[in-house]
Formats: sequence, C-alpha cells, structure tokens
Amino acid sequence: MHVDALERTWIWVVSILTAIMLGTIFYTAYALSVNPPSKKIQPIDSTRLHLTPEFAEDRLGVKKNPDGSLLVTVVATRYGFFPQHVQIPAGTPVTFRFATPDVLHGLHIPGTNVDTMVIPGYISEVSTVIDYDSVKKVARMEGDKAHVPLFCNEYCGLGHHFMWSRVTVLPKT
Ligand code: CUA
Repeated sequence: MHVDALERTWIWVVSILTAIMLGTIFYTAYALSVNPPSKKIQPIDSTRLHLTPEFAEDRLGVKKNPDGSLLVTVVATRYGFFPQHVQIPAGTPVTFRFATPDVLHGLHIPGTNVDTMVIPGYISEVSTVIDYDSVKKVARMEGDKAHVPLFCNEYCGLGHHFMWSRVTVLPKT
C-alpha cells in the first residue's frame, strides 16, 4: 500500500501526540492520584432521600466523630444547599457527604480542594483538611472567621446562579 511521505509524517505526529495525551492521563491518575470527582460514590434512592436516616432534614450538618474528625452531611437541591450555613475548624480532618433529590449538581468551596459532582442516585464523598491560610486568601473575613461560599458549578436549571451556601472556616483551635 502506498502512503505518501507527508501523510506518513503526520501519522507519526498524531500517533505521538495521542500517546503523550494518554500517557499524561494514566500518569496523573496512577502516579499523582488525580481521579474523577469524588473517588467514593455509593448508590442511594434519591426519591426517598428525606426518609433516609442519613439525609433526613434533622440529620444534616456537622457531626463530630469519636476520633475528633468531622462529618458534614449536605443535601444539594434546586436551588440551594442544606444546611445553608456550616462552620468548620481549619486543620481538622473533615468528610463531606452530599446527595441530591433532583438533578445533577456540582459543588465547590473556594480555597479548598473540595470540588465534586453530586449525581442523582449516588452519595458523593470528599475528605479533606481545610487550610486556613488558603481559605483566608479568598474569604470574606469577619474577625478570625473566614466566610466562603459553597456553590454549585454544574448548570442545574434557571436558579443555578443562586445556588450557594455559606461555609465559615474557623482558625485551628
Ligand atoms: Cu445546582 Cu447548579
């Protein structure tokens, strides 16, 4: 089969570029542990979210585990996050668990690495330790309290732009 010299060159160029891009994906995924949003997702019945022991209205918010770490349970719904305000001390291991009763939402807290999708039918879990200095750079300060938004970053409908809650980060005690 005849392949033009110029064409052969470009076949090589494209093959090498493809190999570099795939290599980058595998390298970041395996060597640097860069993974899709929320490494841990568990199925949940979204239509009965308010009846589940974990996501019932009176169970939401910040809870302290026996080891001192925190568990924050949040419902993302059109158009808001509940509870609408959480206070978290910096420098403490914290695990967020999110679920949605309606459509796909996104979720980001500026100054932290909390950034995930909340998919209907699944619980999204993110564990982190919030760094006070990083949050301070983007926060609205009130004394030593750093207020940052927790906002939706996946288009979820007409009220998407109004979908946010407040996170107050306290200095490590
Ligand atoms: Cu929820 Cu955009």
